[in-house]
Parts: sequence; C-alpha cells; structure tokens
Amino acid sequence: MPLAVQIARQGGPEEMKLVELAVGDPGPGEVRIRHRAIGLNFIDVYQRNGLYALPTPLTLGMEGAGVIEAVGAGVAHLQPGDRAAYTSQPPGSYSEVRVMPATAVCKLPDAIDFETGAAMMLKGLTVQYLLRRTLPAEGLQAGDFILWHAAAGGVGLIACQWARALGYRLIATAGSEEKCALALANGAEVAINYRAEDFAQRVAEITQGQGVKVVYDSVGKDTWDGSLQCLRPFGLMASFGNASGAVPSFSLSALAGKGLYVTRPSIYTHIATRERCQAMADDLFVMVTSGQVKIHVDQRFPLAEVQAAHRALEARQTTGSTVLAL
Ligand SMILES: NC(=O)c1ccc[n+]([C@@H]2O[C@H](COP(=O)([O-])OP(=O)(O)OC[C@H]3O[C@@H](n4cnc5c(N)ncnc54)[C@H](OP(=O)(O)O)[C@@H]3O)[C@@H](O)[C@H]2O)c1
Repeated sequence: MPLAVQIARQGGPEEMKLVELAVGDPGPGEVRIRHRAIGLNFIDVYQRNGLYALPTPLTLGMEGAGVIEAVGAGVAHLQPGDRAAYTSQPPGSYSEVRVMPATAVCKLPDAIDFETGAAMMLKGLTVQYLLRRTLPAEGLQAGDFILWHAAAGGVGLIACQWARALGYRLIATAGSEEKCALALANGAEVAINYRAEDFAQRVAEITQGQGVKVVYDSVGKDTWDGSLQCLRPFGLMASFGNASGAVPSFSLSALAGKGLYVTRPSIYTHIATRERCQAMADDLFVMVTSGQVKIHVDQRFPLAEVQAAHRALEARQTTGSTVLAL
C-alpha cells in the first residue's frame, strides 16, 4: 500500500509517523496524483502543532508535484499522464499518492522539473498575490520601498527576486549575516539582521524617516510592533504568517496616528476558483521559466525523515525552499 505521513494528534515533530494508506479512485471534481516531490512549508508546522486546529488523524502537507493517474467526472483541465503541481486544501501532500480536489491542481510546464514545481507553488503563488494584489491604497510604484521579513526563507527568496523585477526597493530582514547576504544576492536592496539590530530604527534611517508603503510580515508576534513603526502614513500592514507565534490582540487606536490599513490574507481565498488559480499560476510560471525568479531548493529530506525536516524549519536552520524526496 502507498505510504503517507500522518499525525494521530497535533503536537511535536515526533507525532509524524509513516503509515500505509489505501488510496481509491477520484470522485467528481477530483484527481488522483502520484507525487514525484513534496514541498515543505511553515503552514505544515502550524497544522502539526495545533496553532491551526484540525481534526485528526491527518495526513499533512499542502504542496506537491507529480503525475496525474486518474481524473473524476467533471474535471476538464487535466488528464491521466499530465505532469502537475499544486498547493491545495485539504492537507495530504506528504504521501506517495493521493486523491484530492482538482480545482487548484495545475499542469506543470515541461520546462519546470518536479522538484522545482513542488518547491514553488505555495510559496510562489503567495508572492504573486502579495505583490500583485495586496497593495496599499496609493498603489505601489517602481522605486517604492517595501519591507519583507524572513526574506531568506522559502517565500522570502522568491519575493526578493519578484520585487526586484517589478522595480520595488525591498528592505529585507533575516536572522543571520549569511541569510542577509542571500537576500541581497537575490535582489533585496538592503538587508537587516533583525536578531542583531533594531529593524524599525534601521528602516527609518534607510527611508530618511519616511517609512515604507507596505510591510509584508510573516513572522507575527515578534515583529508586529516594529512593523507598524516602519509604515508611512496610509501604509499597509500585510500580516500573512506567524512563524514566531500568533499576533497578539491589538488596539485599533494603534493605527490611528498614521491612518494605517491592516490585512490578514490567505492564499486559499485567492486560489479558490479554477480560473483565478490558473491565472496566478500562469503568472508564476512566466516568472520562473523566464529566469526572473529562480527557485532555490536548499534542503532535501527523504519523506521518511520528515521529522528532521520540521525540526530544521522550526529551528530557523533552512534557507529558500525545502523538498521531501520520494
Ligand atoms: N498567508 C498565506 O497565504 C501564506 C502562504 C505561504 C506562507 N505563509 C507564511 O509565510 C511564512 C514563510 O513561510 P515559508 O514556508 O517560506 O517558511 P520560511 O520563511 O522558509 O521559514 C520561516 C522563517 O521565519 C523566520 N522566523 C522568525 N522568527 C521565527 C521563529 N521564532 N521561529 C521560526 N522561524 C522564525 C526564520 O527566518 P530568519 O531566521 O531569517 O528569521 C525562518 O526561517 C510563514 O510564516 C508562513 O506561514 C503565509
């Protein structure tokens, strides 16, 4: 029987166990996909440890690439034998083969290999909706400063390159000098080691007291207050993750002095329809196949070593994307 990584209850990395799971035929609107590579993401940690409550037993994983084996009734955009990649709800990509909704499964261009496909769909589509659609009221123009936290991570390295392609001046934060160097090599204009320096103070210096138009903040608890300080009047706080813990409750009056906007977006709202998901994926595929965005797969773990992969991600030991190999 095919193998999958399941948790019987939410908790630490030790809860993840390799199990045998029977996989049936796809129903209406579904496909069966045999994975060739699986993407690791920070959301997998939240779903494993209970920050995001989910029913168990649960097969984890939100990103993968592979070959379509069978399609259910009503699925018109895929057929058996197609190469495909996705990020999709529900979780379940930590598996050799699965049945899943077809809506967010996209044909993978021949020029993109399976490993790259598995490493880029959740992270790249996130950067797509953030830089294209999660914008301040005044819009973003070439030459504008934006602040991006955790810029040497999976989402972060894609953002550095995409922002440069759009002409934005991305101020990166990252947790070590090596990570700062990586962000700079990928298109950040300035990089701040936020474990060694006060990033809000440095942003004020870099922008000559003006602040940035948008902060893209996936760190959450540890950076929230400083991020608000970095915004210029009418700026946008785009809080899209919580790697350091959930953002604490805050008073709306914290926004009043500068008339700030706050949003807390999720990729799964953006890719909820087939048309929208495909349009976003097409944009991402162009960025990758044209070479404007390179997907950095900096870590590889066999599926059976998924516990070590989670420990490395949580300990801030990874850069770029991480793939679980089959
Ligand atoms: N809302 C959405 O639609 C959406 C979609 C995709 C991803 N996300 C979010 O985007 C973020 C990045 O995702 P990813 O998968 O690419 O992960 P990642 O950036 O590769 O890894 C997370 C990074 O967060 C930083 N970090 C800061 N404080 C941390 C702490 N206390 N513990 C652990 N890490 C900490 C670390 O970088 P430094 O060492 O450089 O600080 C770490 O490498 C995550 O928060 C994820 O949930 C949100």
